[in-house]
Amino acid sequence: MSKRIDINNLNVYYSQFLAVEDVSLSIEPKAVTAFIGPSGCGKSTFLRTLNRMHEVIPGGRVEGEVLIDGVDLYGKDVDPVTVRRHVGMVFQRPNPFPTMSIAENVLAGYRLNNKRVSNSDAEDLVESSLRGANLWDEVKDRLNKPGSSLSGGQQQRLCIARAIAIKPDVLLMDEPCSALDPISTLAIEDLITDLKDQYTIVIVTHNMQQAARVSDTTAFFNIAGTGKPGKLIEMNDTTTMFSTPSEKATEDYISGRFG
Ligand SMILES: Nc1ncnc2c1ncn2[C@@H]1O[C@H](COP(=O)(O)OP(=O)(O)OP(=O)(O)O)[C@@H](O)[C@H]1O
Ligand SMILES: [Mg+2]
Repeated sequence: MSKRIDINNLNVYYSQFLAVEDVSLSIEPKAVTAFIGPSGCGKSTFLRTLNRMHEVIPGGRVEGEVLIDGVDLYGKDVDPVTVRRHVGMVFQRPNPFPTMSIAENVLAGYRLNNKRVSNSDAEDLVESSLRGANLWDEVKDRLNKPGSSLSGGQQQRLCIARAIAIKPDVLLMDEPCSALDPISTLAIEDLITDLKDQYTIVIVTHNMQQAARVSDTTAFFNIAGTGKPGKLIEMNDTTTMFSTPSEKATEDYISGRFG
């Protein structure tokens, strides 16, 4: 079930260092939102606050609110483990468990949350998740081979299958294609477009064409200089952002004059 996210006045710290300052924005369900901006402006840091992964880093803390369908992720009685079951994440480098089989990789996250699963339910979940990640046809005859036996692009789709197997509401992706060739990149982009019917998707990308191709809404973050916090400069529907941005900094960044 796709959900909306409302972030209100979020400050994100590493100990005393304010890495991202005063961000307020809304992320629509059943849509793809792209975060763009120069290296070090806090895109990954901000993304990790949306499933409480930031606080896993020593000194990592936030101020402000992240509401998912109106419920504050940082509310007193909210369990971060439950949050991560509802907000899945795919990382820059495909990270399947290398010694686990393809099928066991798909089930890995699900098994963490559900102690017992019958063999036939497990088989169904493996198939539906791999189909959802557009990988089924390529691996259906070798489900017991190790995850590490796949190509990079296939490994990334396996990680997406693992993420969707837990049936999250939101999928966060931090540069999911940066380690992939152009063909695998297009496969992932097609998959993202398919998945947005079901999930709220947030993607960080350095690739402007990718942001333009896959996202409905784009948010541009920037940083005034080393040691300064990253800030949200503007956010709008992607077509507007790439044709007529309001801010000069956005225009400079997307036209490659900077960053
Ligand atoms: N674990 C950490 N401890 C302390 N500071 C960190 C940590 N991780 C990131 N930072 C700092 O937070 C700021 C934002 O980093 P972040 O990785 O979020 O940027 P980014 O926009 O994702 O950059 P890139 O495009 O290079 O991935 C940077 O100044 C970075 O050095
Ligand atoms: Mg990053």
